[in-house]
Amino acid sequence: MDEVRSEMGGTEGGPLSSATQEAIRAAVRRYPKTRTALLPSLKLAQAELTFLPPAAVAQVADLVGVSHAAAWELATFYSMLHLEPEGKVIVDVCVQLPCALRGGERLLQELAQGLGILAGHTTTDGQVTLRRTPECLGACHRAPMARVNDEYRENLTPESAQQLVAELNRGRGSQEDAA
Ligand code: FES
Repeated sequence: MDEVRSEMGGTEGGPLSSATQEAIRAAVRRYPKTRTALLPSLKLAQAELTFLPPAAVAQVADLVGVSHAAAWELATFYSMLHLEPEGKVIVDVCVQLPCALRGGERLLQELAQGLGILAGHTTTDGQVTLRRTPECLGACHRAPMARVNDEYRENLTPESAQQLVAELNRGRGSQEDAA
């Protein structure tokens, strides 16, 4: 436990603002069992920081009153909690069975190749994160598909996958130009 604590940063201070700390304390007061407040508290921390660095997970654990190991266990379990910074555009490629049967893995590889990253990673400019979904996105009848932020792109062919790559890379170029 001490090793986990030292890897995750000290218990003094932390990256969370006083507003988020207060929101976490309020969440703790709301639940009869403190541990129940852990997940909403991690989400509050992520809402502020956009991801959960180890020091933030440790701070949340301290505020909620659970062990750092318990907080870390939860933070690493849920795919909606992110331990690393994510891109401005999140591309989720569905590779569950119906999509896989219709070329989901091929689609993932094409996007990975076009963006120059592996699935599960973010482009070096921090613009695009490419992920494989751990669950069906509910558009099996239009497989294979990907979700680009909140927008579904369905019935993707090798040609439309290349168009999507071009669109994503154009977006990166224009953001770099504007910088
Ligand atoms: S399996 Fe891909 S949307 Fe359902």
